[in-house]
Amino acid sequence: MTFETKKEVLGWYEKQPRTLTKEFIDNIAWEDVKKYPLDKKFVPVLFYMRDVEALTDMYYEELRRTPTGKDPIISKFMERWSVEEQTHGELLNRFLNEAGIETDEKWHNQVRRAVSTFYTINNYLITSLTNLVGKRFTATHMTFGAIHEMSTTQGYRRLTELANHPVLSEILQGIIREESAHTHFYWSVARLELKNSAFTQKLARFMVKNFWTPVGSGAKPKKESNYTIATLFKGEEGLQWIDRNVSQRLQVLPGFEGLTKVSDKIGEIVLAESSATHF
Ligand SMILES: [Fe+2]
Ligand SMILES: [Fe+2]
Repeated sequence: MTFETKKEVLGWYEKQPRTLTKEFIDNIAWEDVKKYPLDKKFVPVLFYMRDVEALTDMYYEELRRTPTGKDPIISKFMERWSVEEQTHGELLNRFLNEAGIETDEKWHNQVRRAVSTFYTINNYLITSLTNLVGKRFTATHMTFGAIHEMSTTQGYRRLTELANHPVLSEILQGIIREESAHTHFYWSVARLELKNSAFTQKLARFMVKNFWTPVGSGAKPKKESNYTIATLFKGEEGLQWIDRNVSQRLQVLPGFEGLTKVSDKIGEIVLAESSATHF
């Protein structure tokens, strides 16, 4: 679906019913979680994903200080988006608990507290800098958002396939549906913002090319981020997956022709992790 205005994109998003309703969550076969084996190599991946979902709140707070977050359409989207991401974190946490893996009751606070001061200060500076560029930075924010949502979705797809746990698959399917709607929003707004200005295209491409890092890395220790990526995307097949489902979709955005940054970065991480002892 191609939109002509941001308002149309928001209208489309608001028409999407929530997948992860109370009814959906109550109907998950939680009592069956323990009936199926869960390979323990996926446990740190689930923790990582849970934490990144929960940290969306922090990102949302930062973004609200910028012209992007003050855009009435984007802020309307983000209100619902941040709630949905919190649900994803909660569901992953519950799955861990039902699988017999204990988590702290106050895990949200722990995750937030664990974010390094460097990251927080750095983020504050970046936000202040983006405010100088003003509205012309919105395309960059939206492109980063699109990449994060696309790669998250693909991470969940890979996890579904590799973990092969029926209850987890059911949960992830619901999450994926919401992530796909997020992707569609970010991607569509990015396209509109990029379309009309050569400057925003150049700026967004420059920022992605030089500063994009996988979702959660920075806020979470690099080690955990790299482990998750290598577990989910190792091998030729994993890299092709990223290329097909993330890079090629990114390359369709105005100004992003031929950019292979995401595939290159993921490939680099997978290669480094493969030569480490745990693979
Ligand atoms: Fe999410
Ligand atoms: Fe999302």
